Amino acid sequence: MTDQTPVTETAAQPVATPVLPDAQTVTQVRHWTDRLFSFRVTRPQSLRFRSGEFVMIGLMGDNGRPLLRAYSIASPSWDDELEFYSIKVPDGPLTSRLQHIEVGDQIILRPKPVGTLVHDALLPGKTLWFFATGTGIAPFASLVREPETYENYDRVILCHTCREVAELEYGKQLVEALADDPLIGEFIGDKLTYYPTTTREESPVMGRVTDRLRSGEIFRDLGLPEITRENDRAMVCGSMALNTELKEILEGYGLREGANSDPAEYVVEKAFVGEGT
Ligand SMILES: Cc1cc2nc3c(=O)[nH]c(=O)nc-3n(C[C@H](O)[C@H](O)[C@H](O)COP(=O)(O)OP(=O)(O)OC[C@H]3O[C@@H](n4cnc5c(N)ncnc54)[C@H](O)[C@@H]3O)c2cc1C
Ligand SMILES: NC(=O)c1ccc[n+]([C@@H]2O[C@H](COP(=O)([O-])OP(=O)(O)OC[C@H]3O[C@@H](n4cnc5c(N)ncnc54)[C@H](OP(=O)(O)O)[C@@H]3O)[C@@H](O)[C@H]2O)c1
Repeated sequence: MTDQTPVTETAAQPVATPVLPDAQTVTQVRHWTDRLFSFRVTRPQSLRFRSGEFVMIGLMGDNGRPLLRAYSIASPSWDDELEFYSIKVPDGPLTSRLQHIEVGDQIILRPKPVGTLVHDALLPGKTLWFFATGTGIAPFASLVREPETYENYDRVILCHTCREVAELEYGKQLVEALADDPLIGEFIGDKLTYYPTTTREESPVMGRVTDRLRSGEIFRDLGLPEITRENDRAMVCGSMALNTELKEILEGYGLREGANSDPAEYVVEKAFVGEGT
């Protein structure tokens, strides 16, 4: 543009969208509570991942450098798009801004998926337990929509503990939609059981999942025998405190922690890095 360019012509020029590195476009945003939202973005054609893995996503920081955080991919490996389920930390460097994204906006997505909450890290078993608190349900939102989950196991139990009822809504609606899903519904049949609990607001099942395991109430509720190394496999995703307690409980049943390179009976991943972690 020159100094002589008329103002009217300048106004008519399309505004060039700045191109972010590894940019993907937001296709859907849904706010679940004042602390939780989910969103979908376009999927890079070259991105291959295993259901349960996480990637680094973010926005351009004020300093002109990418501001990235780890996020579990909440959609299954076969989906055309990528879904994420996110906290809104009021003063969080990323989520104080990410919570305002809208359809058509761009985010940065580094296409290098990694993680331990994958089928490859578990030895074969009969019952698979998913234990999540808060946004820790994200990797399991992927895995409950993965056909391999139902090919590998006879029973799948999705346990989700949150403080309040509204924080369960994302998982609840996801599970409800699965029964009628034309792609995954037939794989699931009657294998999937959803076990939501709340700790600070009244709901049908109250209390921390760890307490319900220790008391044996969870097995009575579900009509299942206690966990054994022969039958049961588990994946855990929550705060450091939840992960530490569940490791102890699962090891008490004789399960051993697995990894991609050394599969065993349970795997753990942090849902976030917080104080004391
Ligand atoms: C392997 C891995 C996978 C993750 N997957 C997800 C995901 O799928 N969804 C998601 O929302 N976050 C996820 N996180 C957390 C995420 O990386 C960021 O911490 C989060 O987006 C907040 O970023 P921030 O920059 O706003 O604040 P940060 O500076 O990163 O965090 C500020 C503080 O907020 C709290 N916090 C951060 N994340 C959470 C959370 N998810 N739940 C409760 N408290 C939290 C912690 O106390 C933390 O110290 C994951 C973290 C790891 C390590
Ligand atoms: N959720 C909210 O409404 C809210 C609001 C404002 C700020 N925050 C802050 O945000 C951060 C994260 O909150 P969050 O609710 O997402 O995650 P969280 O504190 O990890 O709690 C999520 C769920 O996990 C349970 N839990 C915590 N530790 C556990 C353990 N060791 N074993 C079993 N269950 C356990 C909690 O039960 P308990 O209730 O028994 O702890 C709660 O039901 C916290 O620092 C919190 O102070 C949260």
